[in-house]
Amino acid sequence: MSERNLVVLGLQWGDEGKGKVIDCLAGTFDAVVRCQGGANAGHTVVVGGHKTVLHLLPSGVLHPGKCLIGAGVVVDPVALVAEIDELAAGGADPSTKLMLSDRCQLVTPAHPALDRAFERAKGKGKVGTTLRGIGPCYADKVARIGLRGADLLDPELPARLRASIRAHNRTLDQYGAKPVDPHGAAVERWLAAARRIAPLVADTAAWIQDLMDKGGRILSEGAQGTMLDIDHGTYPYVTSSSTGVGGVITGAGLNHRQVGLVAGVVKAYTTRVGGGPFPTELDPARAEALRQRGGEFGATTGRPRRCGWLDLVAVRHAVRLNGVEAIALTKLDILDPEPEIPVCVAYELDGKRIDTVPAQLSDLARAKPIYETLPGWNASIRGVSDRSRLPAACEAYIAFIERRLGIPARWIGTGPGREETIVG
Ligand code: GDP
Ligand code: IMO
Ligand code: MG
Repeated sequence: MSERNLVVLGLQWGDEGKGKVIDCLAGTFDAVVRCQGGANAGHTVVVGGHKTVLHLLPSGVLHPGKCLIGAGVVVDPVALVAEIDELAAGGADPSTKLMLSDRCQLVTPAHPALDRAFERAKGKGKVGTTLRGIGPCYADKVARIGLRGADLLDPELPARLRASIRAHNRTLDQYGAKPVDPHGAAVERWLAAARRIAPLVADTAAWIQDLMDKGGRILSEGAQGTMLDIDHGTYPYVTSSSTGVGGVITGAGLNHRQVGLVAGVVKAYTTRVGGGPFPTELDPARAEALRQRGGEFGATTGRPRRCGWLDLVAVRHAVRLNGVEAIALTKLDILDPEPEIPVCVAYELDGKRIDTVPAQLSDLARAKPIYETLPGWNASIRGVSDRSRLPAACEAYIAFIERRLGIPARWIGTGPGREETIVG
């Protein structure tokens, strides 16, 4: 790996522990680039017992390398400024190492308002979005009416922002939602934040290509996970971007030869936030026990995460689509007290055994997990950093996953801290 670029992707429904893995690995890279998504992400990094949650800033921000926000990201200037200020207040001002793509899309104050209106209109069928305006911003991008990073340098930005908001107010009105005042405090706050981040705007894709020419190395940071991918996830209960390796190529501005090693982050069990089918979801009492033990509450919204057993049908789907060569298996320590651990190896659909993810939601909702149950280890592995010191049953659990996926677990998480990791 030492010669290659690295991509870190989530292989489930997000919150696999990507932030920790990226923080552990970022030290030897010249730059870390966020490729897609926006402030819907919540990536947690714990260093020396101190917790930092990153939403738009790359999880390599606590290292000396550059931090890039790529073309595929949707950026809310207010959220970005808040994040920069919070880090600066803690003594780790990231502004000098941060670059913002001139091609990224800007989340305006109308986008969260639209997000809320669309979710309300969906009623029981709502996606359960983070309400950060992500879907409406990506909709503007593909409709070719979005504002971009480069527009932060346009003297006409205030007028263009207000025109965009007025256009969206027509939609808000149709949905019976309150319009956004084009001259209100939220818009003024947005414009002030836009002025703050304007000096960070750069052609990040060209910068990356120059770095590649000089033999530098880059770590590409995925947000969300493959099961939330707009094309390959559990549509429509997904986010609005390409969360796999395709999103890295377009979102960072790397070409396919520059992707490097694709590492997939897999939590030792499964969680999901928001609506949509979840075949291995646990009954409420067992889910609650796992949630409490794993601290499974959203890093962005604080919502309780739904919890279930590891679903290797979903993970294999992600491994194959993304060309994953190695996994980072996280939160293994959370399974310490489980007497036995079921792992879903296939689904049963209408009496047939299947090992792929059905596109039709009603099929996925009916699919019954077929489990293989492994013995638990009933011992604490918290903080173990040497694989040979793991209990035999714990090693057997890891080996089972490796065998089923056909790839090694090169990193294993035994706690939230940077050093609570087995590197294999
Ligand atoms: P991300 O969105 O994929 O970066 O994941 P989140 O940060 O939203 O959620 C993962 C949570 O698990 C965070 O609170 C991490 O600090 C924590 N975490 C990550 N890896 C481990 C691990 O191996 N063990 C334990 N106990 N916690 C972990
Ligand atoms: P990280 O990067 C978990 C989910 C939301 C919702 C759906 C759509 O921390 O893993 P959106 O606001 O994107 O339109 O919401 O996607 N979602 C995430 N779930 N982790 C995330 O990010 C997520 N980002 C979005 O809960 O179900
Ligand atoms: Mg998260």
